[in-house]
Amino acid sequence: MDDLKEKYLGQIAEATDENALEAVRLAAVGKKGEVALKMRELGKMTPEERQVAGPALNALKDEINSALAAKKAALGDAALDERLRSEWLDVTLPTRPRGQGSIHPISQASEELTAIFAEMGFSVAEGPRVDTDWYNFDALNIPGHHPARAEMDTFYMHRAEGDDRPPHVLRTHTSPVQIRSMEKMGAPLRIICPGGVYRADYDQTHTPMFHQVEGLALDENISMANLKWVLEEFVKSFFEVESVDLRFRASHFPFTEPSAEVDIRCSWDNGQLKIGEGDDWMEILGSGMVHPKVIAAGGIDPEKYQGFAFGIGIDRLAMLKYGIPDLRAFFDSDLRWLRHYGFSCLDVPTLHGGLSR
Ligand code: DAH
Repeated sequence: MDDLKEKYLGQIAEATDENALEAVRLAAVGKKGEVALKMRELGKMTPEERQVAGPALNALKDEINSALAAKKAALGDAALDERLRSEWLDVTLPTRPRGQGSIHPISQASEELTAIFAEMGFSVAEGPRVDTDWYNFDALNIPGHHPARAEMDTFYMHRAEGDDRPPHVLRTHTSPVQIRSMEKMGAPLRIICPGGVYRADYDQTHTPMFHQVEGLALDENISMANLKWVLEEFVKSFFEVESVDLRFRASHFPFTEPSAEVDIRCSWDNGQLKIGEGDDWMEILGSGMVHPKVIAAGGIDPEKYQGFAFGIGIDRLAMLKYGIPDLRAFFDSDLRWLRHYGFSCLDVPTLHGGLSR
């Protein structure tokens, strides 16, 4: 038994990688290993012999197993050290000259849609990404108990105990900018607000941070017909086509009455996403006539002014226009993906020069 011990502990010490170590394990303590064979011999021994040999064999097996485990851990550490050594990178070195960077499809889509709405007389408004729950919910006619709060999978900001400032959230949509713009600019008003929004959600078409563009038009005689025209013109211009198949679906949002969701015809064949054909529909926006309570929350007289609003998913527009099937790749910062789907920084999208040439 001492011979066995010496032999296998020696082999374990000499093993230089996990494969070699596994071979030693099989030969020593595997099902058909030498220790197992010895254990089988216990049956042929006298009870007295067995009383000595049995515990000794078990102790030997334990000793070999712990030597194997220790060596395995040591090999793992050494492999990690080696990787850390070989993948070491001096981030203080100057960058290598490269042709140029590229514009991310979301930035590109934002520039394109801004150019289109600018042409229709909308100016760009902004608001904070961390906002109070009053702007994100209450002012938009979503009171505290409203189910829409739960549906939105809101990220709440941490508050220390005893801190009684109003609760803040990562904005779940760009709609709070409607309120801020009304407060700042009054009516009549025509704004869009592109920007990042946040919800706890993750799959092929949802990421915890994504992008919307909010739109708001207020004046003294605006109707649903104006909304429909603006959206149809926008979608045609954005996709650079003569006509698109849109589906206006009656829906409900607390901040609009009536409300409509709009889907665009598409297909998902073999993981290829195509717009304008097929039997699938992808929801790209919510819209409606602004609720009088929302107009009043913005400090404007709802008896005098009414208007429409919409919230469009920018990332989804980019997926459809550029045939990108997985939203999550937008946020992976994979250089190969960026080079493939990115745009030249010198081609600024304009309606006269072409949006995405
Ligand atoms: N805020 C809605 C959302 O994120 C989208 C939306 C729907 C915006 C209707 C609007 C609107 O302005 O009128 O789901």
